[in-house]
Amino acid sequence: MAARLSPLLFIAALALLFAPGGASAQQSLCADCHFANAGGPNPLHLHEWDLSAHGRAGVGCEACHGGNPKTVESFLAHQTIVRGHGLENPVNRRNLPATCGRCHSGPYSEFQGSKHYLLLRNGDPAAPSCSTCHGDVAAYLLSPKGLESECNGCHGRGKKQERAEYAADARFLLQSTRDTRRLLNSARSLITRVTDAKLRASLQYDYEQAMVPLQEAAHAGHSFVFDKVEERLGVAMRRAEALTDRLANLGARAPDR
Ligand code: HEC
Ligand code: HEC
Ligand code: HEC
Ligand code: HEC
Ligand code: HEC
Repeated sequence: MAARLSPLLFIAALALLFAPGGASAQQSLCADCHFANAGGPNPLHLHEWDLSAHGRAGVGCEACHGGNPKTVESFLAHQTIVRGHGLENPVNRRNLPATCGRCHSGPYSEFQGSKHYLLLRNGDPAAPSCSTCHGDVAAYLLSPKGLESECNGCHGRGKKQERAEYAADARFLLQSTRDTRRLLNSARSLITRVTDAKLRASLQYDYEQAMVPLQEAAHAGHSFVFDKVEERLGVAMRRAEALTDRLANLGARAPDR
């Protein structure tokens, strides 16, 4: 197969395979210059980007800020970037759902159904945006306790929007999501060790059938009304348990692995 490709094409294909950041062969020059500019704006933000899932996945500065990432000329790079904190800026907290949502359509579409989104679009500064829970660029994932504190920051005792039960429910559901994910992760590592290819494929299928509703539950949480989360999570948990039972039975029947 390789022999039939022209050598140049072959090398180009290899370069694509080994390009840093995997899928994105095209490189962003924004970060290079900003990191080289010690006195430049927002050094903490650069640090967070560097350590984040975004930095690792090659999601460049232009993904959220716009601009031209292919030039080393500061003027050309920034020409189309909106300066300041106005409403036309894609990183204004009011615009973040759409800016982040270009890549994260699951959380975005659920968020659009929430009261929070409505308030945010109407310019209410008390409403949360994506950055409230995930940071500007860091892509933090809150722990269950952290999420509870976040909700309580606005809905806790004595607050204007007091609804303490929101926070407790959110914490409980996130904890269950995490537990189910952990169960499935251990199942996955067992599955890779099954030697029979057909059996392995069938177990892998069951694993994916449990992951889908789990992912949907994590996305549904962004509507902040938890009926759908509970329903999806319930399905994921039943499938995860059935898979674990299957694996346990295999272990009992074939101890010679
Ligand atoms: C050649 C160096 C260089 C390149 C390339 C570059 N920047 Fe900058 N950038 C700077 C410097 C220096 C500043 C601070 C001075 C200024 O505001 O112009 C800055 C400012 C900024 C600001 C703050 C603007 C404001 O006023 O609010 C943002 C946002 C930004 N850059 C994003 C980007 C993005 C996105 C890219 C790529 C599309 C990029 N930069 C490419 C050097 C660069
Ligand atoms: C995932 C989206 C995202 C990415 C990627 C990202 N930023 Fe930002 N950036 C933001 C958000 C959100 C803010 C906060 C804006 C605010 O509070 O008004 C911000 C703020 C800034 C600021 C402060 C000035 C301003 O316009 O508010 C600078 C400078 C900046 N970013 C530069 C960069 C550079 C350079 C990179 C690449 C290394 C980068 N950003 C990558 C989302 C991002
Ligand atoms: C250009 C596409 C793009 C944009 C725009 C973008 N992201 Fe991401 N995001 C990614 C990729 C790629 C990853 C890493 C792959 C992954 O973990 O799913 C990621 C990871 C994440 C994660 C971590 C998911 C995990 O499971 O660890 C969160 C949270 C996140 N992004 C939130 C945001 C927020 C909030 C914004 C806007 C401020 C944003 N993203 C803007 C592409 C994008
Ligand atoms: C009130 C807090 C909160 C807000 C606001 C919020 N999220 Fe989330 N987000 C979460 C929680 C909690 C999770 C689930 C984390 C987990 O599963 O460990 C999550 C998960 C995610 C993930 C990972 C989903 C996956 O596939 O595993 C992405 C991406 C994400 N959010 C993007 C966004 C975007 C985009 C916005 C704005 C439209 C947003 N979030 C607003 C709390 C929030
Ligand atoms: C930055 C502040 C803030 C955070 C954080 C926040 N909320 Fe809210 N939330 C609000 C505001 C403001 C309202 C509007 C209150 C009203 O109209 O009564 C609201 C409304 C709601 C509503 C709709 C209430 C209704 O009667 O329609 C629900 C549900 C909700 N929040 C759940 C949550 C949950 C769950 C969390 C944590 C995952 C959370 N919120 C985090 C500010 C916040």
